[in-house]
Amino acid sequence: MRLDTFIARQLRKPSGLIGRLFVGKSLNKSNGPLEDMGLELMDLKPGYHVLEIGFGNGRLISKMAPRLHEGTITGIDISDVMIEQARKRNQDFIQSGKVKLLKASVEDIPAEDEYFDRIFTANTIYFWPDPGSDIGEVFRTLKTGGCFYCGMRVREDMLRLGPILKNRDIFKNLYTLDEITAFFKSAGFSQVDYHVKQRKQFADVIVVGQK
Ligand SMILES: C[S@@+](CC[C@H](N)C(=O)[O-])C[C@H]1O[C@@H](n2cnc3c(N)ncnc32)[C@H](O)[C@@H]1O
Repeated sequence: MRLDTFIARQLRKPSGLIGRLFVGKSLNKSNGPLEDMGLELMDLKPGYHVLEIGFGNGRLISKMAPRLHEGTITGIDISDVMIEQARKRNQDFIQSGKVKLLKASVEDIPAEDEYFDRIFTANTIYFWPDPGSDIGEVFRTLKTGGCFYCGMRVREDMLRLGPILKNRDIFKNLYTLDEITAFFKSAGFSQVDYHVKQRKQFADVIVVGQK
């Protein structure tokens, strides 16, 4: 297997020794600013139920938990290695019942309809198995009036950033700003907005859809 295919696969689903030793830490370095931008935008209020899809090693969850009073945070991810690391990092919040980390994929979110006030994801939409129906699943579990925050990089940036992110078998769903906005609207979000922060080589983008 080519090295860039191997790395792309690790980014989609960290696994094995490489996933355990390197992937979580390097994700934190490159994606931390995007998560921090999401944390500010989400404006967490007491009692909120929050979901993070594809939490990696749980960095954002460890920052959300101390800020959220009387609410809950659910995280779903498909990688055993990331779940193990995120559970370790957030063990006190898990023990107190504030945080629950589950092995699940975006296409089948283990929650009732209209449960979450806030749903966040960073750099996972590229890998969603069927974005059209997966965003419907996000919409189903979001309360009316609640918001979905989708952190991502736009197609132009992804394709410029080198061979790993150009792998369209793995990074399947790449969007321009216009396309992602149209995609949210067709899923039923009544208001769609986006926030962009330019970094050296790419922009951090968060698309916000209100149900
Ligand atoms: C590139 S990493 C991003 C991790 C973290 N959100 C960040 O920005 O650093 C993608 C994460 O999404 C998870 N993931 C991939 N496909 C998923 C799916 N279908 N449902 C839930 N999580 C998924 C991976 O296991 C991995 O932890």
